[in-house]
Amino acid sequence: MTKTESFQLEFEQHVQDGLTAFPKFLSSKYIYDDRGDQLFQQIMALPEYYLTNAEYNIIDQYKGELKSLFENQNGFDLIELGAGDGKKTKVLLEELVQNNVDFTYKPIDISQHAIDELTNSLTTLLPDLDVQGEQGTYFKVLEKIATYNKRPKVIIVLGSNIGNLSHKEAIDFLNQIQHSMSSEDLLFMGFDQKKNPLTIQNAYADKTGVTQEFNRNLLHRLNKEMNADFDVNSFEHWEAYDPESGTAKSYLLATQECDVHIKKLDLKIHFNKWETIHTEISQKYDDLIVEWLANESGLEINQIFEDNNKLFKDYLFKKK
Ligand code: AVJ
Repeated sequence: MTKTESFQLEFEQHVQDGLTAFPKFLSSKYIYDDRGDQLFQQIMALPEYYLTNAEYNIIDQYKGELKSLFENQNGFDLIELGAGDGKKTKVLLEELVQNNVDFTYKPIDISQHAIDELTNSLTTLLPDLDVQGEQGTYFKVLEKIATYNKRPKVIIVLGSNIGNLSHKEAIDFLNQIQHSMSSEDLLFMGFDQKKNPLTIQNAYADKTGVTQEFNRNLLHRLNKEMNADFDVNSFEHWEAYDPESGTAKSYLLATQECDVHIKKLDLKIHFNKWETIHTEISQKYDDLIVEWLANESGLEINQIFEDNNKLFKDYLFKKK
């Protein structure tokens, strides 16, 4: 079985499980096909979606310091999980290349399309950069990363991508990263911070409806790839941020009672009016939670970087 086939089977099993469960759910990781990637790029350009600019500000501001922290006599591998379009990483890559730092950039993303686009744009922007991109899910790729032990590595996970995971899943993820690290390796990871709840609410429920289209892309994919007949426009995006837990939850909300047939799975699903499909969490953090997550995963925080508007933080971790 090819990688694409097994991923497709996993996706089908997930849809079967998620839409027959009560309450219904689908995972946000399946939003990202070519159209989903594009919609996420539109989200990153929204004035409400402060995360991207905030982390850009951190990397731009501290790129010199990061260069000194990352560089190594023997060279190193810079492994980025969930690289996407690399907008923020490019600032750092440029700094490293301009200073003749010896390293290989290994971007990893669930989307082959994203990897191809990123590799192409880097060939033009930084012709001297050694890029070795790879398509894969975090968990699968991490197994492989554990074998990259020829030279030191710096693993980076930007954009608060970890926020899509529950705390338990985040600890599993961090633990797996920690196991792939040796004592000199570094982990640099972005965590969106708790803040005025309205700022968060607005970031995930934008006025122009891009986030709604992004969320609905799950249903578009089911129509396209599994021969389903969702009336996509009768499902609305709903966002609920809970400032106590720091969890922003996204839903698709059926605005009318309906029956959907997913032909490829031979599955009929009934929706009551106002029934939900829970699709995504975007967890928000503070130093105490990140310290706890690190501690549970055999990591320790070495340094904390914050943006000028105090919205977002990147943490530098080492093995404990
Ligand atoms: C890519 C997971 C960081 O949760 O902020 C943006 C995805 N969802 N708007 C996030 C997303 C809705 C994003 N991450």
